[in-house]
Amino acid sequence: VSGKLSPLLKIQQEAVDFYHRVLLTTKAGERGMQYAQKRELNNDILEHFKIGYAPKEDNVLITYLRGKGYQDDDLAESGLFVQAKDGRLFDRFRDRLMFPLDNEHGRTIGFSGRRISNDKSEAKYMNSPETPIFTKSKVLFHFAEARKAARSEGHLVLYEGYMDVIAAYKAGIKAGIASMGTSLTDDQVYMLRRITPNIIVNYDGDDPGVHAEERAARMFNKDGNFNLGIVVLPENLDPDEYVKKYGTKKYQEEVSGALTPTDFFLKRLAQKYNLDNDREKITYLAEAIKEISQVRNPVEQDMYVERLARSAGVSIDSLKANLARERRRNN
Ligand code: GTP
Ligand code: MN
Ligand code: MN
Ligand code: MN
Ligand code: MN
Repeated sequence: VSGKLSPLLKIQQEAVDFYHRVLLTTKAGERGMQYAQKRELNNDILEHFKIGYAPKEDNVLITYLRGKGYQDDDLAESGLFVQAKDGRLFDRFRDRLMFPLDNEHGRTIGFSGRRISNDKSEAKYMNSPETPIFTKSKVLFHFAEARKAARSEGHLVLYEGYMDVIAAYKAGIKAGIASMGTSLTDDQVYMLRRITPNIIVNYDGDDPGVHAEERAARMFNKDGNFNLGIVVLPENLDPDEYVKKYGTKKYQEEVSGALTPTDFFLKRLAQKYNLDNDREKITYLAEAIKEISQVRNPVEQDMYVERLARSAGVSIDSLKANLARERRRNN
């Protein structure tokens, strides 16, 4: 395999440079540039993320790379082309804004392309297929850059989308990363563990986003090596939309106001019950105590118990008695 890796990596890098040049300097790229401007991607951003544009025609990249001497068997394996029944190769990505996806060393191993037309029958994002160098479950967008920034920013921020990482970057949060639209994998959690224990999860504020945050929080907690913060944005907004609507400063405040996982779960729990109804309230308090009983730090536990007692209008002592019972049950 190792003899194959080098041409595959070279082909990806050629494609990065090609798509980027098309976007920035060609007539064919004007469509892409218009879309980039609509999404408020300035030149610094286009440079930093090496964003490009794949033209509408289906033979532009293939012609270019053959012209540079690359062999069809390597090109076919690169994931950048689709192969017709008769074996002919055509560009896979057409009329898309191209986001390079890099490995942990910053070398490009695949792409995701954003549809720029309004044709909803086409997928909004199209990814490279799995190849010898591209394994989706092990990729985190912007990871190689973010790990450097994490040293000064003190944490990594996990997003749902590429455009969210980019919006955060513009807002001065340079340690942003995103999984590939799929839910977080164990491999990705392992990659993060080697960088920092401090992770802030800021998925979209819509229902699927908040559910995915619950799942991610459980995964990080199960691993046990993380100190998590969770941001839930209002009005179903994603971070990119939030920054556009409320500005950079407000967004930074949302991030610094990230909830502890327990606070996040307690808030979610409170929304599930009608707390004006006594029976529902009793169930809610029992569930909340269960959640609090998982907290390892006794001072933190006390904090939640006191807050819960105050908000529910019950005594701290009775909640503490229930908590003690719950803890005995856990052991
Ligand atoms: P924009 O509409 O460009 O702002 O994208 P978004 O990031 O807000 O998209 P969304 O919240 O719908 O999805 C989050 C992430 O899921 C995207 O960044 C992609 O990684 C992924 N995703 C979204 N739509 C698709 C799709 O049609 N196909 C695939 N493979 N991935 C998708
Ligand atoms: Mn979403
Ligand atoms: Mn729900
Ligand atoms: Mn989104
Ligand atoms: Mn978005």
